This record gives sequence, C-alpha cells and structure tokens, in this order.
Amino acid sequence: MKYLGNSPENIFQRIRKMYIGHYGKVTDVLNAATGQPDSVPPMTLRKLVAKWVLNEENQTHTYWDNDDPGEFCMNMIRRVARFDVKQYEHLATLVLPGEKSMLPLMPITCAAKQKNLPKVADNEGFIRTIPSYDLLETWADYIDAPCQRWPLYSAETFRLNLKNLPKSEKPPRLIVVVKPGNPCPVGASREEWVELIEYCLKHQIRLVNDGAYASLIHGSHVPLCQVAAEYPDLEWMEIFSASKALSACGWRLGSAVGSADFITELAKVKGNADSGPFGPALNGMAEYFRDDIASTEMEAIQKMYERRLKIATKIFTDAGFKLACPSDAGFFMLFHCPKMLDGKPMKDNEQFNLELMQKVDLVGVPFAETRPDGSEGQFIRFSACIDYEDEAFADKMRAEMKKITIGY
Ligand SMILES: Cc1ncc(COP(=O)(O)O)c(C=O)c1O
Repeated sequence: MKYLGNSPENIFQRIRKMYIGHYGKVTDVLNAATGQPDSVPPMTLRKLVAKWVLNEENQTHTYWDNDDPGEFCMNMIRRVARFDVKQYEHLATLVLPGEKSMLPLMPITCAAKQKNLPKVADNEGFIRTIPSYDLLETWADYIDAPCQRWPLYSAETFRLNLKNLPKSEKPPRLIVVVKPGNPCPVGASREEWVELIEYCLKHQIRLVNDGAYASLIHGSHVPLCQVAAEYPDLEWMEIFSASKALSACGWRLGSAVGSADFITELAKVKGNADSGPFGPALNGMAEYFRDDIASTEMEAIQKMYERRLKIATKIFTDAGFKLACPSDAGFFMLFHCPKMLDGKPMKDNEQFNLELMQKVDLVGVPFAETRPDGSEGQFIRFSACIDYEDEAFADKMRAEMKKITIGY
C-alpha cells in the first residue's frame, strides 16, 4: 500500500542514485552536481567546536530547543548578511537546525489550510518562485494545500517581476523566494524588494527569503533583511545557513531574522518538531561568530568560489555551453540545456544529463521553466564545488569536454 503514490523523490537524492547506479560510488563530481561544498569548516571553527565537545557541563550536551547561547543569531546575521538586528526592537531571531527542515514548517506556521481564522485576512495558499530550490510546494502537496508558482524567466535574468505573479481570487498567506537563487544564482536589488514588500503589505502576505547563499556574493545582491527592517508592519522572515557559508552542511546550523509574530509562530511550530541543534556545534559557532576572523574566513570561502567559477565557466562556455544567467552568488552555473549531444537530438534535459554522465565523468541537475507562451525552457546546473583551481583537475575537465560535441 502507498499513500503517497507517485509523488516525486527529492531531486538531489534522485541524481545521487542515478550517478551511484552508473559509477558505483560517491565522487567529488557527484557532490559538485548536488552542490555540496568539497572543503571543510575552517580550522579555527573546528577547534572551537572540539573544545565544546569536550565540555563537561550537561547544559552543553542537552536539548537546545529554540535557545540561543547568546547572540549566535545576531552575530551570524551581522556577518552573513551585514545586518545589525540590535538596531530594530520590533524584530526577532531564531536559531535553526539548518534551513531545510524549517521550510516544511512554513505552511503550518501560516495555519496551512485552516479557514475562518479570527483576526487575520482571508488569504489562502502559498506561492513559491520557480525555478528554485523548493520544499514549500512539495510539502503543500503532502498536506493537500494550494501552492502556486511564481515564474522567474531566463529572458528576464530570473529577476523578481511582480507582473509574473500567478493570478488567483484570494492573495496567498505566504510567498517564499530564494535570493540569491538556486539554481539561478542571481541576486535581488533593493528596488525589487521594495516592490515586493509593498505588494505583501497591501495584501497582508507573509514574505520569506531563503538566503542560503547570502555570504557568497560575487556580483550584486541586497539581503531582504536590509530592506524589510524598515517596514515595521511587514510580516517577513529571512533564513540563513552555515552549510554553504562555512562548508558545514552536516552541522545543521542556521538562523532566522524577521518580524516578531512570524518568528514566534515558527518557534512554536518548530518547538513541536525538533529539539534544537547539536549543542557543541552551536556554542562553538556562537563563539566563532563573535570574532572578526569569522568574516575574514567567510570572505576567503567566497573568493575561492569566485575564482573557481571564473575557470569553470570558461571551460563550459569554451565547450559550447550557453549560460542562462550570471553567477552573482554561490557556486552554481546555470546553462541552457543543449538540444544535441554528439549529433543526437536530446528529448529533454533529463536525457541530456543521463547521456552526458554515460559519456564523460560529469553530471548536472536538470531544471525547467515554462515561458509565457507555454513553451518550456530547459536548463542544466553544474557547480564549482570542486577544485577548478587545481590545474590537473581543470585539464582533466577540458579533456572530458573535448570528448563530446554539444549543440543547441
Ligand atoms: C537555496 C537553498 N536553501 C536551503 C538549502 C539547505 O540549507 P541547509 O543545509 O541549511 O538545510 C540549500 C542547500 O542546497 C539551498 O540551496
């Protein structure tokens, strides 16, 4: 018996299975496809966490629930998003055990499908941007709540454009965006935020930005918090993660900042969903973020991806791949998916990805867009989570690219 029928598997876990099925093992190439940093957290940080692991106090090793050991969020947000929460009394923060498991809680935090709620607007359902890293739609599906798609178009460089918002009778309770984006690594401007904020205020919509790549900015991007803080009536939240900022994916740490009611409600729901992060990692990172070395080391990680992206993008474009947008942030490169591989027409980006992997040791992640005229745009995402600065590796990639011919 299956209650969930054929609902799709997590896309990154699907790509992992496909690759391991072919190569029989996890490799750097696979981790680069799924966007997992290949480096480890800085030694300074690991030493601090090691110290906290050895700490004898029960308090360190017990449930942390929603507790902040003292300005963890404030310092993380100051360093990751260059935003000083302390200056705004109406805002609140929350320690997160990473971002991923918080996104499914967002619909519940907005009362999911409950109707006729007192003292709130009669809004309904949710909106997510597409293409984007998404869990909102997946979870809305699980709980049979309405979730609509807000398309970001490659022809508009994946900018937030209110004109493309889905039309519906009632405004949504919540809009979730991902800026800088994944898979389209484009930032957001102050003007885009102001327009979106004013729309959300007018229609009493909660706004969330997933800022997983906020510390890895190579182009231009303004974090939501820097703009939203000036609107005390806005219900909003921005979530940040240590995973990519500090190559600490497995540590499961992050933070949220936003309007007090929204954060308090997420804390309430979260309080019934998890028991907080791993105490020594939380305390070690809290200590780390107090020191300026955190900013220096995060900047070094950002610079590393910027240098790698420059080399990698050239390797791909020299081989004929066409970029779908610039890589303003993070470590992804998004390309229009070639329609031909070695003279053979490709049905779609899934086929291209599979056959590419079978020909050369390279795999990506397919994404799509539905254009206003109904046609589909197909993309393939690769990453610089692999050392393109290592000349031997870069040469290997150039040689692999020579083995294939692509066409559009
Ligand atoms: C946009 C985005 N949000 C969230 C996450 C997950 O973050 P975390 O490791 O904090 O759960 C990722 C990871 O790939 C991501 O790309």
